[in-house]
Amino acid sequence: MADEGRESGLSMLKDSMNQEDEVQHIFVVLGASGDLAKKKIYPTLWWLYKDGLLPKKTKFVGYARSVMTIDALAAKTRPYMKIKDDQEGKLKEFFKENVYYKGSYDDAAEFEHLNDNLKTLEKGKTNRLFYLALPPSVFESVTKHIKGACMAENGWTRVIVEKPFGRDLESSSKLSNHLAGLFTEDQIYRIDHYLGKEMVQNLMVLRFANRMFSPIWNRDSIASVIISFKEPFGTQGRGGYFDEFGIIRDVMQNHLLQILCLTAMEKPASTAAEDIRDEKVKVLKAMAPLTLDDMVLGQYVGDPDGEGDAKEGYLDDPTVSQKSVTPTFAFAKFLVKNERWDGVPFMLKCGKALNERKAEVRVQFKDVPGDIFGNIMRNELVIRVQPNEAVYVKLMTKKPGMAFGTEETELDLTYKSRYKDLPLPDAYERLILDVFCGSQIHFVRNDELAEAWRIFTPVLHEIEAKKPKPIPYKYGSRGPTEADEMAKKNNFHFTGTYKWSNPNKL
Ligand code: NDP
Ligand code: BG6
Repeated sequence: MADEGRESGLSMLKDSMNQEDEVQHIFVVLGASGDLAKKKIYPTLWWLYKDGLLPKKTKFVGYARSVMTIDALAAKTRPYMKIKDDQEGKLKEFFKENVYYKGSYDDAAEFEHLNDNLKTLEKGKTNRLFYLALPPSVFESVTKHIKGACMAENGWTRVIVEKPFGRDLESSSKLSNHLAGLFTEDQIYRIDHYLGKEMVQNLMVLRFANRMFSPIWNRDSIASVIISFKEPFGTQGRGGYFDEFGIIRDVMQNHLLQILCLTAMEKPASTAAEDIRDEKVKVLKAMAPLTLDDMVLGQYVGDPDGEGDAKEGYLDDPTVSQKSVTPTFAFAKFLVKNERWDGVPFMLKCGKALNERKAEVRVQFKDVPGDIFGNIMRNELVIRVQPNEAVYVKLMTKKPGMAFGTEETELDLTYKSRYKDLPLPDAYERLILDVFCGSQIHFVRNDELAEAWRIFTPVLHEIEAKKPKPIPYKYGSRGPTEADEMAKKNNFHFTGTYKWSNPNKL
């Protein structure tokens, strides 16, 4: 199975490259000395390289302000690369394809110098990919200099941008206009790494490749939808960054909203990127700006009885201001005002320092009309994004045996049992491979981004102006109970009666 996955990746790549394995590619990591590069980008490039998924003649170029050797880079990134004992030789080969150049982000001459260096690596037709693993403060100057000095002369150029794409509609539009002045939309790849996750990508297949879901996927049958993201740890030294952005900008406005779009959108005309992105934009256009009345905001406090980090609250993080009212938990209710969804609450919930790691989509169906059994619970379809990818439907069955009673149970597709030993690629692996292939299906388009900011900007500004005090919740808890109350008011019924017995002890 593992090999099949790899083979299909390879053939996908080969197809879209028109069998042009001979074309050279240069992948430039701007910000190569930073955290994202170390933890995600270099490990991802290594995985793709060792699996033979990249075009044969690919070179990797690091660029950052620090002085650094390839050996230092290799040592820094090694802990994140999951290297097996028999891969040391391959790893050496990988780093042989790497070079690193020191340079600033705001000096045109240094980008010209980078371009000269790139040219020395290039033989014949060469495509260039630039990954901006950089703080947003330098996005504009770096992209200006890429355009000014570093565009491929004999091949295509693609630029990969990481969030945050601005802080609000105005700053995001400014950045978008800046990028649009330099590159065409098909040269820009805006990463939302949740779009690279297996189960997020599966949403479209589950919805549009199964006849049983289409007739019930609407306001007639669905009571409410909750999309959640939970992490069992706090900001852990990232407080400085986090405090500027907060959980709404960090997770809700991008990752969760993207999942909402895939859950709510109409069937696209095809699986072409533009058709899919057109449908996602239509969902966003049908959503009104979020208001504070439809939100619950929380901030975690230490649990005196907790262990280790759990004793520390958000405000105990030395990089966070003592007076910070930045939410580390947010719950928000939305309506999608169109014919399919009018009146169905879509709730997004996300938080740090909660009781578990989990990301899921929970679709709760309406009550069965005319319950002849007297104790029927609602059906729920759960698409668990992580951990342990699964799709399960909670449903009623006859209590097995002589009795004619009912019982809650599930139809369960657990990936680890159904697809034993099939390693699923990391989200970044898929997405970076997509950039090589020129597939924008799983990337965010300019107008999607603008719509997302339209929905969130007023409330973000209101929070910044009024500074409402977030509700404290204990590290390791499920977050403020006020969120459960809001979910209940919005037609999500939690009964607590469903019990799961794990057949595989996963
Ligand atoms: P539950 O009915 O237990 O929980 C349903 C939802 O209610 C969740 O969103 C849950 O967590 C939320 N909730 C929990 N407590 C409250 C509360 N007091 N008020 C309001 N909402 C609450 O069903 P689950 O689907 O969670 O299943 C139970 C367990 O079984 C889970 O651990 C699940 O992973 C496991 N399971 C695993 C399967 C698999 O691996 N294939 C298949 C089926 C079940 P929250 O709001 O905190 O996110
Ligand atoms: C990032 C957020 O985008 O996603 C982080 O900035 C968060 O705060 C992370 O921890 C979660 O990603 P994943 O893939 O670990 O669920």
